[in-house]
Amino acid sequence: MVFQIITLFPEMVGPVLSTSMMWKASEKGLAEFRVLNLRDFGLGPRHQVDDTPYGGGDGMLLMCEPIFAAVEYAKAQATNSKVILTTPKGSRWQQGMAAEFAERGQSGENYIILCGHYEGFDERILTLADHQVSIGDYVLTGGELPALVFVDSIVRLIPGVLGGEQSAQIESFSDGKTLEFPQYTRPAEFRGMKVPDVLLSGNHGEIAKWRKEH
Ligand code: ADE
Repeated sequence: MVFQIITLFPEMVGPVLSTSMMWKASEKGLAEFRVLNLRDFGLGPRHQVDDTPYGGGDGMLLMCEPIFAAVEYAKAQATNSKVILTTPKGSRWQQGMAAEFAERGQSGENYIILCGHYEGFDERILTLADHQVSIGDYVLTGGELPALVFVDSIVRLIPGVLGGEQSAQIESFSDGKTLEFPQYTRPAEFRGMKVPDVLLSGNHGEIAKWRKEH
């Protein structure tokens, strides 16, 4: 499953992709990450990527040419790539969607993630997107953090990435509604706070019942 992230801030996403589960996924060959610097596709000697809006107004908009060029380049690198645009106007990202993408990714789909930009982009860029994704009803400075949320939530669902195969199944939101049961580790008592007796009982039936109830 190849994830290509197109961004003006590669230094923001690179370190996260080489840490923890994402690093593990790429070490195991289960996912591959490539970061494309949008600036490399910019126009002219100054590698221009944005311009002022027609009709006037504040700010600069990402231009079509560099983005189309970057997406076309990325598509040539990995077949069957779907383009994801991160935008607060997109569909709200949810666990069930991450699971669907993880499944489609295992059947050969790859992803190109186009990070939006706080001042906006030329509307024609929307024609490139197969999916528009928002991670919540708030506006971030750019699409880099949402892109990482998107990638992380999918990659950890690829079989073999998480330690125990069950981990992704029993945790919060896996069935779309319930939250994970409370968990404890040593010591059995800490500053007067005790681990529930049932968890120390060794009675697996009772433990399973308690976990279900919680
Ligand atoms: N870009 C800025 N804010 C965003 C959000 N909430 N979700 C996705 N992309 C964004």
